[in-house]
Amino acid sequence: MKFGYFDRKAREYVITRPDTPTPWINYIGSGNYGGIVSNTAGGYSFHKDPQNRRVLRYRYNSIPMDRPGRYIYIRDAVTGEYWNPGFQPAQTKLDSYCCKHGMGYTNIEGEYKGITADVTYFVPDDRDFEIWLVKVKNRLNIKKNIQIFSYAEFCFWEAILDQQNVDWVQQINQGHYKDGIITWHPHHIDKAAAFIATGEDVSSFDTNLETFIGKYRSESNPIAVEQGACSNSISLRQNGVGALCLDIELEKGEEKEVVFVVGYAEDKSKLKKKIKEYLSPKGAHAALERLNEYWENYTSKLSVETPDEEMNLFLNTWNQYQCKTTFNWSRFVSLYQLGLARGMGIRDSAQDTLGVMHTIPEEAKGLIIKLLKCQYTDGRAYHLFFPLTGEGGSGDAPVKKFDWYSDDHLWLILAVNAYLKETGDFEFINEKVLYNDKETEATVLEHLNMALEFTANNLGPHKIALAGRADWNDTLNLDIGLGVAESVFTSMLYCRAALEMIEICEFLVKKNEVKKYKKMFEEMKKAINDTCWDGEWYKRAFDDYSNPLGTKEAKFGKIFINSQSWAVLGNVADGEYARKCLDSVEKHLNTKYGIVAMYPAYTEYDKTKGGITTYPPGTKENGGIFLHTNPWVMIAEIMLGNGDKAFKYYKQIMPAARNEEADHLEVEPYVYPQNILGKEHPQFGIGRNSWLSGTAAWNLVASSQHILGVRAGFDRLIVDPCIPKNWEGFKVKRVFRGATYLIEVKNPNGVNKGIEKILVDGKKSDKIPVFSEGTTHDVLVIMG
Ligand code: GLC
Repeated sequence: MKFGYFDRKAREYVITRPDTPTPWINYIGSGNYGGIVSNTAGGYSFHKDPQNRRVLRYRYNSIPMDRPGRYIYIRDAVTGEYWNPGFQPAQTKLDSYCCKHGMGYTNIEGEYKGITADVTYFVPDDRDFEIWLVKVKNRLNIKKNIQIFSYAEFCFWEAILDQQNVDWVQQINQGHYKDGIITWHPHHIDKAAAFIATGEDVSSFDTNLETFIGKYRSESNPIAVEQGACSNSISLRQNGVGALCLDIELEKGEEKEVVFVVGYAEDKSKLKKKIKEYLSPKGAHAALERLNEYWENYTSKLSVETPDEEMNLFLNTWNQYQCKTTFNWSRFVSLYQLGLARGMGIRDSAQDTLGVMHTIPEEAKGLIIKLLKCQYTDGRAYHLFFPLTGEGGSGDAPVKKFDWYSDDHLWLILAVNAYLKETGDFEFINEKVLYNDKETEATVLEHLNMALEFTANNLGPHKIALAGRADWNDTLNLDIGLGVAESVFTSMLYCRAALEMIEICEFLVKKNEVKKYKKMFEEMKKAINDTCWDGEWYKRAFDDYSNPLGTKEAKFGKIFINSQSWAVLGNVADGEYARKCLDSVEKHLNTKYGIVAMYPAYTEYDKTKGGITTYPPGTKENGGIFLHTNPWVMIAEIMLGNGDKAFKYYKQIMPAARNEEADHLEVEPYVYPQNILGKEHPQFGIGRNSWLSGTAAWNLVASSQHILGVRAGFDRLIVDPCIPKNWEGFKVKRVFRGATYLIEVKNPNGVNKGIEKILVDGKKSDKIPVFSEGTTHDVLVIMG
């Protein structure tokens, strides 16, 4: 069963019924002000940080689900009937309903008894506020008098206190109204305010939530809407609402547009001026037009035409779009990660930069610098940081012996290398950046050097990396206080990071560094191969008693995915080992919905393994399909030249391919979820945690840079595809350092990999050079 379809031309996903299995959401805003909008207008918003400056409230685990939201009530002034274009919260059965999630905006349209209403939600021009552009139309042959009520439920800005200290918060919340604007702020802050505004004549308003809703009612049947007027309440305490009521006359066939603006103002005395141009429908439309242009431009740096329609759909639109969202919000703000306590992840954000590097490298650099500032002088890093306060922290895994994760710092090397290749901005490595003590400065290269050093200085009994609190797998908490648990995965990631340092330093002719990193790489590679090969695959870790995880003899967790893919990605596995360990992945871990994280899953809690054993078999890291890990296997297969298998792995996790059975997938088919229940779970195939996952960036990397093989090099563009044999070719348009490359790849001999010749602007060439900005070039690649 399906709930909607892809409108490829409009670049929208169109949801055709409101009762999706989970709320299917979209994001508005660009990382500054923004929030979440579901297909029934549920969701919340915040300014810069969902924890420290939440603007609109959301009730987690709410029943009915997904409340509150940015609601518009339409009321027939004569009959008193009322409804919402998004079905929620009044739940009036609509004559028609449709929600279009587009790039940076959501449009929800409903029709009831001859009146249609649609609302477009978006953040204009990266400002500190959002627009609700409402259009109502009278489709009847008689004149209608209707009322429009807005509903924006304000949250105390410190969202944790909003839940935690109701005593204080509800005494100090203050709501006011003047000239079409409701402002909302704590008593002791008089300059800044959250607000809702309209340019229309307001017939009544409420700033007090309890007054608007009425006793023992809910958003479904607010007393004010039922009675057809608000009470003009000024809120001196309690909870706040932005309820503005507009009386509208619609002649037969007439259509009218009104605008609400909701947001945050640093200085409320300047607010009116700031929002003025957006309060008119004309101003709002112009801003929406600019938003569309922004996304056109954003996605224009990479576009593909392959024989696979879903790949085209994802690479040209949805995968790029999801990557920007993970770049903005890491794993912090979704309907599963609640924008509380967690912050922006260091490892997560470092990987997220890989998904936007081809189009906004300068912004990626900005984030990389923030992450480098999270490093301690010994090279390790915080686990997370909060965007508004800039404070960092160490996450919530239990602390026994160590308070650091063994991998966070190493991802920084991959991010910086990708930035250098994309931009050629080699000066960056000499830029000085502070460590998290806010006193000690070092160059970017030195920061990266210290990242490697930290791991090299923290080895366990097998001479591989200590595990710390956990590695990439947050739930593998092997540290029980003895201080010897080791991570094979982190050791392999370290090898990859060392290789990338070698690559950078070789290009920059830094001979001593090259020598040093080669030695570091070789030593680690040897230690892994000496002690971690299990016969058909690599072990995953050693616990705090030095017992291995990921061996044939183990009852649970015989084989784990990441120590196979990264054995290849880190160039640890030579020859036969590489093929063998990837074959073991296919044999033991692959399923039709994706590759599971490990097998067999643990069935009981085990304190020597930690969080992973708290999950039932087949969920998340405990034998679930943790999608983030799948593109690593694709890349590993490609490194061994196996384009058919890589593509099979790519397609089996393609969400769009499950659109027809979306009732089973449950989550949005237009983005990758973080996980899908694995083969050992009775509900095998259900997706969870949509949107914020490293899957987005790594699938973009795997598909565009490895399957299609178009990737940045230090002094060139590389085209080195590894595709299914039955592809006859494909085309890619790629903007690289300001020049446009129109690439055509032909595969006349039906190979997976290999290049017979390259023609650049018609001339045979052994490399694809960097061209001057603004120029356009044809690249023809013949495989063979
Ligand atoms: C979550 C975390 C991420 C971690 C992954 C696997 O997605 O945000 O940092 O790598 O889980 O445990």
